Amino acid sequence: MATWLITGANRGIGLGLTGKLLARGESVIACAREPLKAEALAGQKDRHGDRLTILGLDVTSGESVEAAARASAVPIDVLINNAGIYGPRAGQGALDMDFGAFAEVLAVNTLGPLRVAQAFLPRLEVAGGKIVTVTSRMGSLAGTNDGAVAYRASKAAVNKVMTGLAQALRPRRIPVLLVHPGWVQTDMGGGGADITIAQSTDGIITLADRLDMSLSGQFMNYDGAPIAW
Ligand SMILES: NC(=O)c1ccc[n+]([C@@H]2O[C@H](COP(=O)([O-])OP(=O)(O)OC[C@H]3O[C@@H](n4cnc5c(N)ncnc54)[C@H](OP(=O)(O)O)[C@@H]3O)[C@@H](O)[C@H]2O)c1
Repeated sequence: MATWLITGANRGIGLGLTGKLLARGESVIACAREPLKAEALAGQKDRHGDRLTILGLDVTSGESVEAAARASAVPIDVLINNAGIYGPRAGQGALDMDFGAFAEVLAVNTLGPLRVAQAFLPRLEVAGGKIVTVTSRMGSLAGTNDGAVAYRASKAAVNKVMTGLAQALRPRRIPVLLVHPGWVQTDMGGGGADITIAQSTDGIITLADRLDMSLSGQFMNYDGAPIAW
């Protein structure tokens, strides 16, 4: 039984990952910024008891992340940086940017994953753990679509941040992987998205299981195909 820590675990892909991992017998620290409102996680707690810990964690707050790291003294085998926001559907163009919203998107999607990784690093080191960051194909600089600039920039930036982290953690043998989860039927992806949460989370978990130093620093689709930076 391994211990997985997942951010943004109260709904969407994070909740799907939590359910699947608990079902296969893993131990999960499910983080939510408003744990008292995380009803779906509370339901899982009733079923799985001690194997599920629900932890309050807002990735934009250093205080919150540090308090969460202090609250969970156990070694962590896999950290999944999943929490993310898309930002406003309008006001994300290069000519009509809502800069307040842009800063918030960067705070959650780019700074958040690094803040969480740094705070939980001692727990990962104890376990010989690994880090998976859920990014997006929309952050690929090879793409030509010019919509949703704030979201795309935040994911391009987290890709750079995580390749830097992969390099920095190579001597400590902690691998870091960037995964695009697919276009997924969640609140963010919408009902018309390509794949279900179950299809996406199967892929993400398979990749996390496979992750070793030979894959560290790579950017992959949920099905394991490499994605151009
Ligand atoms: N769905 C897709 O098609 C798709 C495609 C590519 C990439 N992704 C990426 O996949 C990840 C998960 O997306 P999703 O589709 O599951 O989205 P979602 O259904 O909108 O869920 C987002 C999760 O992130 C949490 N979150 C947001 N801001 C947070 C903060 N400051 N601190 C902690 N948690 C926070 C949310 O918590 P609250 O409930 O408190 O808001 C929620 O649990 C994101 O990184 C997203 O960018 C999704």
